[in-house]
Amino acid sequence: MKTDATPVRAGATVVAAEQRRRSRRAFLEPFEPLLDQLEAARNAGVYPFYEALDPASDRYRLRQPVVLVHNDYLGLSHDERVREAARRAITRLGTSRCSSPLAGGHTDLHRDLERRIATFLEQEAAVLFASGYQANVGIVAALMRRGDLVLTDLFDHASIVDGARLSGAEVRFFQHNSPAHLERILAQTDERRRKLVIVEGI
Ligand SMILES: Cc1ncc(COP(=O)(O)O)c(C=O)c1O
Repeated sequence: MKTDATPVRAGATVVAAEQRRRSRRAFLEPFEPLLDQLEAARNAGVYPFYEALDPASDRYRLRQPVVLVHNDYLGLSHDERVREAARRAITRLGTSRCSSPLAGGHTDLHRDLERRIATFLEQEAAVLFASGYQANVGIVAALMRRGDLVLTDLFDHASIVDGARLSGAEVRFFQHNSPAHLERILAQTDERRRKLVIVEGI
C-alpha cells in the first residue's frame, strides 16, 4: 500500500499534459503551412489582425488620424442625435434582439426605419440587413438560381461573390471597370439566360 500518493498524482498530471500536447500537435498538423505563413507575416511586421484602436486615447487624438477603413462615410456614428436615439433604444430593448428578424428579432423600430427608408428612396418597401456582407449574400442569393449567370466586376466585394455562389448560378468575372470585357462575355452568352451584372460604387 502506498503511503504517499503525491508522486503518483504528479506523474499522472505529467502524462495528461503530455497527452494534451500530443493531441494538440496532431490537431494542428494539417494547418502547419498556414501557421508558418502567419509566423512569417508576424516576423516581417505585416500581420494586420487586429490592432485595437481606442478613439478616446491620447495617442489616437493627438495623431488625429484620418480613418479610411470604416464605412461611416457621413460620420453619423458619432452624431449626438444618433447616439441619443441609440441610448433610448437600448434602454427600451436592451443591446440586442438576440435573434434573426424571422425568429422574433424584428421590432417596431426596424419596421419604422424600413418604412422611412422606403419613403425617402421613393420605393414600395425596404429591408434592413445587419451588415453589408449579409445584404449582399441575402439579396444576390435570393434573386438568382441554378442555370442563371452572375457577372461580377473582378474587384467586387467578396460578399457579392459569396452570394452569387450560394445562389447556385454560374459566376463569371469581368475585368475591373471594363464594360468592353463585360460586353464580350455577354456577346457569347445565350440571350434568353437570366443574367445579373453587379458592380459597386459609393
Ligand atoms: C461593397 C461592399 N459590400 C459589402 C461590404 C461588407 O460590409 P460589412 O463590413 O458591413 O459586412 C463592404 C465592406 O467594406 C463593401 O465595401
